[in-house]
Amino acid sequence: MGSKIAIVVASLLVSLLPLGCADSGSVGQDPSPMPASLAGLAEAHGRRFGTAVVHDALFDTTQPELARRYTTTLAREFNLLVPESELKMANVWTAESTLDLRKADRIAAWAVAHNVKMRAHSLVWYRSVPPWLVAGYRRGDYSREQVAALVQWYISRVMTHYKASYPGLVVAWDVVNEAIGPNDPTTSDTFGLRPVGTDFQDSGADFWRLTLGDDYVEKAFHWARAADPDAHLFYNDDHAEFPNPKGEAIYTFVTALKAAGTPIDGIGLECHLDVSYLDMSLPGIVFTPEAISATVDRWIRTGLEVQVTEADISMKVGQDDRQAKLYADLLRASLPKAGVTAFTTWGFTDLVSWRAASTPLYFDRDIAPKPAYHALLEALRTWDGK
Ligand code: G3I
Repeated sequence: MGSKIAIVVASLLVSLLPLGCADSGSVGQDPSPMPASLAGLAEAHGRRFGTAVVHDALFDTTQPELARRYTTTLAREFNLLVPESELKMANVWTAESTLDLRKADRIAAWAVAHNVKMRAHSLVWYRSVPPWLVAGYRRGDYSREQVAALVQWYISRVMTHYKASYPGLVVAWDVVNEAIGPNDPTTSDTFGLRPVGTDFQDSGADFWRLTLGDDYVEKAFHWARAADPDAHLFYNDDHAEFPNPKGEAIYTFVTALKAAGTPIDGIGLECHLDVSYLDMSLPGIVFTPEAISATVDRWIRTGLEVQVTEADISMKVGQDDRQAKLYADLLRASLPKAGVTAFTTWGFTDLVSWRAASTPLYFDRDIAPKPAYHALLEALRTWDGK
């Protein structure tokens, strides 16, 4: 760790692509006939409506017309964004003493230029472990204590960089992501910390639990708090937004963290859903709008700040109306409630999605609005705050 530290910091170049209306906060206060936007309506209620963004789509120079539509829609509809993968550890920490923040910084600079806030995702995640660190640990180059010191250094450098270079930009840090396994609550009844190992690609094993110990989640939160006392520190996971065995395990885990004095401020409910969940009938799983609403209420009662962080809803051809209704139901079950501060979706166009084949978003591949977009707008217009 004594080696010279070279941080590759981005030039603060902002996209030269043509931009749309950047003032997404004027709806609700401005009587001029501006079309409503998701951000405008959410902001009128003091909330954020966000999306994941992909650097290579935002700054795509090979398809200028599509990039223009992507960028103008982003600027018009959102007051929060999250880099989909550009801030993940394996993408940033390229060698022991080198951080490559160029892509994340270009996104951050775009956000600042467009008066949009940012979620930072994510510091510690079993699926994003730098290959050089795994290889070094396997070779015996690093002890567990040395891995811990390195991770603490990493958290501190990244958080300090954003605090110093983009003050006020980051409204939430996903400190630890998806520590509870497995991903699918219908396939196993073993919910707890993921198993230890160095082979997450094959088995979903958790390198951090192996090297940092069973208390790695607590450690990460303490390191994050030390790096930035003012940051909003989140635990983020899937399947915590409706009653199911994994969600129950996450609730038990997170409330125990909080009770033990871990500096955790918020819970991120990913909400990667599927229209087919509405037809599911499995023991211990209740997937209805009412059950989602009650689960959100339960999280609010913990005193944690609650955010929907990665919503998308897979569908089959012809299910646009069911998808639209589920989006609106999910929004109504969460964002209007005191204690829920943001509703973020995992992208906005079916063109740029980790599961594009199931068209889970509310703008189509040409970035034209789908029924789900209009349903979300309507849910924001008919706001029923509690
Ligand atoms: O960058 C390469 C690119 O050069 C290459 O052409 C392409 C070909 O496959 O692969 C690209 O990398 C992929 C990257 O997405 C960008 O598309 C990675 O292989 C792939 O692993 C990566 O997947 C991302 C995944 O997290 C792992 O980081 C998904 O896009 C992203 O949506 C997904 O996001 C996660 C959240 O972080 C946590 N919650 C679940 C969510 C969905 O899995």
